[in-house]
Amino acid sequence: MSAQLLPVLTTGACSVQRLRIFAFRNYVEQSVEFGSGLNVVGGSNAQGKTNLLEAVATLLLTRSPRAAGSADVLAWGSDEALLEARVLRPAADRTMAVRFRRDPMSGRVTRSATVDGSPRRARDLLGLCPVVLFWPEDLQLVKAGPEGRRRLLDMVLAQLDQRAALDLLRFRHVLEQRNALLRQVRAGTTPSEALDGFTRELVSSGARIQVARAELVRSLAPHARAALAQIGGGEELGLRYLPDGGMDPDGDAVAAETALAATLAQRRLEELARGATLAGPHRDDLELLIGGRPARSAASQGQQRSIVLALKLAEVRHIAVHASVMPVLLLDDVLSELDPQRRRDLIAGLADAGLQTLITSSEPLPGVLPPGTRRFEVASGRVAVAES
Ligand SMILES: Nc1ncnc2c1ncn2[C@@H]1O[C@H](COP(=O)(O)OP(=O)(O)OP(=O)(O)O)[C@@H](O)[C@H]1O
Ligand SMILES: [Mg+2]
Repeated sequence: MSAQLLPVLTTGACSVQRLRIFAFRNYVEQSVEFGSGLNVVGGSNAQGKTNLLEAVATLLLTRSPRAAGSADVLAWGSDEALLEARVLRPAADRTMAVRFRRDPMSGRVTRSATVDGSPRRARDLLGLCPVVLFWPEDLQLVKAGPEGRRRLLDMVLAQLDQRAALDLLRFRHVLEQRNALLRQVRAGTTPSEALDGFTRELVSSGARIQVARAELVRSLAPHARAALAQIGGGEELGLRYLPDGGMDPDGDAVAAETALAATLAQRRLEELARGATLAGPHRDDLELLIGGRPARSAASQGQQRSIVLALKLAEVRHIAVHASVMPVLLLDDVLSELDPQRRRDLIAGLADAGLQTLITSSEPLPGVLPPGTRRFEVASGRVAVAES
């Protein structure tokens, strides 16, 4: 599979060059110069390898993809953390920074962002340099509930499409408000008409999210199928979007709105009884099929691993086509899951692919790393350049 793991789909790639970290997780103060190709981060367990990849992801996404809340990323005992990097992009290089601060009065941690030193809304940083991530937790993607699969879709959408990023933000907000209101109506403290405005807002942002997800799944499906075939997954991989609320996955936004509004109206009594919104994109799923059967029940352990990797490579391909730029690829601990031949194939394929990859490994990798690989060694929250 090596040379075609990621066919060259665009001439441009973005990369994180000089990363500076202050008081983030177990890093006190650190500067790292990444290479624009393959970077391998080694070190024993619990030294800070995952935290280093998390720092890169947190900067590019303006929030941690793995922490439950921003407070978790502050180094213990610190009230402030800062991430900053020079990001090389085909369009124009940028210096991106995200700062997390604990408010001394409320204790809440808020974030602020800058590009080239000027304050920006956090979501304006999204997609400046797209990123695709693989964490060990992702191995649950096939078998676990739909939330992780929805998150996979939304992370791609939010980075490629400002409108989708805003819709996702709005939807989350209005969903929370509407659920609170449903409980107030149930308690008799608010008239039921108060729901109308929230329902309209929920339906319009919700329907747009569903249409965007449907389109994305149509685009990811052939990439994922091709990627799995290259990794040697055996049977054919299928992706099927299962929107909740009655939408036709091939229909347009107006049809999706009509369907969602009708379903919500139908379920109103049950919604009031349960105090929760019972239709919409927060209940969608992405069904994965292997050889035509649901992967959830049919995929072996090894197949699950290959399917997740294929999905990640599909994300890279989709972004390369739609944003005309290769994203940064972060692979945490993916090698420990692979046999020696697959390790070599994956590394060789990534090295050839013309994108910046950061990959962690707690094991030495003798004879696996191609020339030009930049190696780092992490110990107790310090990163050192390792001899190649
Ligand atoms: N907010 C925090 N402040 C300070 N230290 C933290 C914080 N969060 C986590 N840590 C510490 O960072 C250490 C390194 O974690 P990390 O997950 O990066 O290790 P790792 O090198 O990836 O290890 P492994 O090989 O086991 O995956 C952990 O042992 C944890 O105690
Ligand atoms: Mg780790």
